[in-house]
Amino acid sequence: MRTLKKLIENNRNWATGIKSVDPNFFQNLSQQQSPEYLWIGCSDSRVPANQIVGLQSGELFVHRNVANIVVHTDLNCLSVIQYAVEVLKVKHIIVCGHYGCGGVQAAFKNLKLGLIDNWLRHTQDVMQKHDGLLSKIINTDLRLNRLCELNVIEQVVNVSETTIVQQAWESGQELSVHGWIYGLHNGLINDLNVCITNNEEFSTVYKSALSALENINRI
Ligand code: CO
Repeated sequence: MRTLKKLIENNRNWATGIKSVDPNFFQNLSQQQSPEYLWIGCSDSRVPANQIVGLQSGELFVHRNVANIVVHTDLNCLSVIQYAVEVLKVKHIIVCGHYGCGGVQAAFKNLKLGLIDNWLRHTQDVMQKHDGLLSKIINTDLRLNRLCELNVIEQVVNVSETTIVQQAWESGQELSVHGWIYGLHNGLINDLNVCITNNEEFSTVYKSALSALENINRI
C-alpha cells in the first residue's frame, strides 16, 4: 500500500467540516500562530494533546516523546521550548504524563527493549531518586502510578531549570510551568499541583507537590 487512502479521505472530510463552520479558518491560521500553551507529553497514541484539552489548530504548541522526558542535552526538546518561550511567547508550559505509560512501565520493570532503554534511564533515575517514597507503597500498580506522577514532577523541575525558562523569569516574562497526569481509563486530567511561576517559589512548590504524593492515593 503506497497510499494511505483512508487517512487522506479523513483529512478531506476534516478540512471540509472546519471550513463549513468558518470558511476562512485555514486562510487566517496560515498567516500566523499565537498559541498560549506549550504541551510536553508522551508519544502514546492514546494521549492526543489537542483533543483531550479541547483546543483547535493554532492553540497548542506540542512536543511529544516517549514518557514525556525533558533532558538538558536534548536539542530537539530544548529547541521546542526555546521557540515556544522566546518567539511565540507562550504563557504556560504543561508537562502532561499519563497513567499506564508504557515507557514508565518499562523503566519500572527494568525491561530490556533496546536503544530506548537509554532514554528511559532518565525515568529510572527518577525512580532511584524517590526510592524512599516509592518503597513505602506495597501495591505494584499503585507504585507504578506514583512513578508516573513523580516522573511528571521531575520533568517540571527540568523544564524550570532550563536556561530558557530561567532567562524568561529573570527578564520578567510571564511564564508558568505545570505538571498534569492523564488517566487513560477515564479520559480525565489530574493537576499535580506543581505549578511553578518563578524561582522564589520553586522549591516550596516542588516540596509540597511531593508531600501531597506521600499522602494521597490518587488512583
Ligand atoms: Co506514555
